[in-house]
Amino acid sequence: MSLNRISLTAVRNLHPVTLSPSPRINILYGANGSGKTSVLEAVYLLGLARSFRSLRLQPMIQYEQSACTVFGQVQLPQGGLCNLGVSRGRDGEFQIRIDGENARSAAQLAETLPLQLINPDSFRLLEGAPKVRRQFLDWGVFHVEPRFLGGWQRVQKALRQRNSWLRHGRLDVIEQAAWDRELSLASAEIDGYRREYLQALKPVFEQTLTELLDLPGLQLSYYRGWDKERELLDVLSASLPRDQAVGHTQAGPQRADLRLRIGGHNAADILSRGQQKLVVCALRIAQGHLVNQAKHGRCIYLVDDLPSELDEEHRQALCRLLEDLQCQVFITCVDPHLLKDGWRTDTPVAMFHVEHGRITQDHRSEA
Ligand SMILES: Nc1ncnc2c1ncn2[C@@H]1O[C@H](COP(=O)(O)OP(=O)(O)O)[C@@H](O)[C@H]1O
Ligand SMILES: [Mg+2]
Repeated sequence: MSLNRISLTAVRNLHPVTLSPSPRINILYGANGSGKTSVLEAVYLLGLARSFRSLRLQPMIQYEQSACTVFGQVQLPQGGLCNLGVSRGRDGEFQIRIDGENARSAAQLAETLPLQLINPDSFRLLEGAPKVRRQFLDWGVFHVEPRFLGGWQRVQKALRQRNSWLRHGRLDVIEQAAWDRELSLASAEIDGYRREYLQALKPVFEQTLTELLDLPGLQLSYYRGWDKERELLDVLSASLPRDQAVGHTQAGPQRADLRLRIGGHNAADILSRGQQKLVVCALRIAQGHLVNQAKHGRCIYLVDDLPSELDEEHRQALCRLLEDLQCQVFITCVDPHLLKDGWRTDTPVAMFHVEHGRITQDHRSEA
């Protein structure tokens, strides 16, 4: 899928605008502070109902405006169009519309508009807390396995129950055992989906990485969140006294992680920033390939400040991989000359100049 049209109002410093992006490569260029990242942030809001720059959406609303709004028209892979709208008011009002109807949850948006973000913070995927990697993994599982969401909701519910009685001790023994069984069963289901997904992801990731970097020995592995030899039910009963002492459940799929190691070291501890960025790009591009194969169609890539940390050779290799994905890509950069050329002649490339919050399409370079 791709966005045919994007309209935005009162997003950060951007003047109200309607853009008609290319279904493939879109380059937004302009000086620092002109509003390039804000455009990506607007698209991200449309797909995920949140920002990647701050935990709250309030800072996205333009000063002195009461609400920011983003509309998008999505070309669906099976044909047809879908209209999405997200609006956030200063008073906290939040609205998600899909084809004119109020949506129940952000998961519906995510399903319509699978997004992958690569930005200068992306190295956090390697360096940051397990939660970041879990979100990455689950994004992929969610898009290729329709049963994942239901299973995950079951895990959440059982976990909330268990953590509540760990803290307050208000359930009887039979009820506790029933919730432990439910948690264990739902966790085994989730673990199965994640493991299967990772098995599919690994070879695609390794292949993608070889096209970007020479890093033999980089190992991607999955930790499910509890001892791989034992059932979660056994682990839960063995760890009960400790869980009670800390007031929450310490083992289970809520602790799952991905591990990237080179020769026994954590990859984040030995790779340069640029190398980390490329490893993360390879992971995210590999995910895009898997989503492309699954029934949801193609995802959209947002690449903020693509040239940063990369030399020319790696920049070109990354552009080639993004082009080969056949996805819609939005790339920002300061200097358009770094990215203007080198695309295949049949790839439609649209260039947008962002200046003090105003966006103009550069028609000379339009395909
Ligand atoms: N809520 C807001 N209202 C108006 N302007 C804002 C708001 N939030 C940030 N800005 C301004 O918007 C500009 C755009 O920032 P950004 O999109 O990060 O630019 P770029 O990515 O092109 O460097 C910045 O100059 C910033 O000061
Ligand atoms: Mg920026």
